[in-house]
Amino acid sequence: SKPIPKDKGIDKTLTVMKEGYEYISNRTKKFNSDVFETRVLGGKRAVIISGKEAAELFYDNDKIERKGTLPPRVVKTLFGKGAIHTTTGKVHLDRKSLFMSLMTENNLEYLRKLTRTFWYQNTERMQLMGKVNVYKESIILLTKVGFRWAGVTEKPEKIEQHAMDMDKMIDSFGSVGTAYKGYREAKKARARVEDFLEKQIIATRKGKIHPEVGTALHSFSHWRDFQGNYMDSRLAAVDLMNVIRPLVAINRFVAYGVLALHEFPGERERVAADDNNYAYKFTQELRRYFPFVPFLPAKAKVDIDFQGYSIPQDTMIVLDIFGTLHREDLWQDPERFYPDRFDNWDGSPFDLIPQGGGDYHTNHRCAGEWMTIIIMEETMKYFAREITYDVPAQDFTVDRTKLPGRVKSGMEIENVRLNFDRT
Ligand code: HEM
Repeated sequence: SKPIPKDKGIDKTLTVMKEGYEYISNRTKKFNSDVFETRVLGGKRAVIISGKEAAELFYDNDKIERKGTLPPRVVKTLFGKGAIHTTTGKVHLDRKSLFMSLMTENNLEYLRKLTRTFWYQNTERMQLMGKVNVYKESIILLTKVGFRWAGVTEKPEKIEQHAMDMDKMIDSFGSVGTAYKGYREAKKARARVEDFLEKQIIATRKGKIHPEVGTALHSFSHWRDFQGNYMDSRLAAVDLMNVIRPLVAINRFVAYGVLALHEFPGERERVAADDNNYAYKFTQELRRYFPFVPFLPAKAKVDIDFQGYSIPQDTMIVLDIFGTLHREDLWQDPERFYPDRFDNWDGSPFDLIPQGGGDYHTNHRCAGEWMTIIIMEETMKYFAREITYDVPAQDFTVDRTKLPGRVKSGMEIENVRLNFDRT
């Protein structure tokens, strides 16, 4: 077999941090190869793979193992101890069925309704604020939506603290194994929200509170695994948060979306009209175009032969997420923001992979992808259709060398007006 092109160096972790979302594509371009090797996380050999065939390999459970491959720090801050992301085999399949059981048509329709109503109702607050930072405002709003949808009840004055705590956890993935000054803060933030959610689980089990049937809180409290056991209350809290925290993370897409409405001519009008599913296509293009998840780690379960390269068992394998979303061979004119490209998309589970790929039930593909699309459709229609606002001068930069990606200013708007003619 051919030798794999090598990014030379003892440990390239700092280079990964410095180049961010561009680290992989800088190398795949330089080597003119969808496969290259590097050394990261203390000098461990890693083979990076990019593209649609790479995603197909990555989600082949016979060849790829995911358990034990996430950096421990990311587990401790972002996902939580014992989180579904860290499971494999029968335990994963079983637990995933719990997450997917929440995604009924009715529960998703309820989410749509909640999102629409909460934004509409929030208009007065934004009017009174004068200047609104969309990143911050949407993190608070989405925390309210998330709690309500999940059946979690909390005093209004506590919402903002939970929102900020979850924001810290989400930001922590930018550390990718390097020394990270926010690490202890993120761990404390996690402990606070876990404590709160665990109390809700325990109170539900004791019959002190009564979340509705079909809510995440109800389901996680009463679910039994394939051996007939209830989840440990802490683990139930961890995985309940794995429904709510990523929902809150959608605020990052919201800021990108409001930026796109502002920056790309004609988009506001087209989203407002929503002809031919435009809000859906706009959402898909946002998830493709803007940087969020950079890559995902795994390891070879067996010796693998990929595109003429041999990858020995136990080698770390990293799937290029951001680069795959920007490849010329998959997306015509990939640096153009062009929602109509989704008119002709075949729905492949291996090319539009901002939230992972493969199968929802048997792979680690994001359980909340439909939720994300629904929340974004309703949120973008709200901003494009229901309100008018001014956009002050600010730093609109989205720096692709910084993990995690964000609009530098957070996306500020001011002078919000409701579009409703009452004459
Ligand atoms: C898994 C991204 C929203 C719940 C994942 C994965 C990614 C991802 C990349 C891992 C895929 C893999 O390992 O193969 C995102 C992004 C979101 C988002 C970018 C939007 C901001 C949500 C929402 C939920 C959610 C709203 C709510 C249910 C999960 C769960 C998993 C997961 C439970 C683990 C699935 C498993 O291990 O089988 N997500 N996600 N995510 N996501 Fe999301």
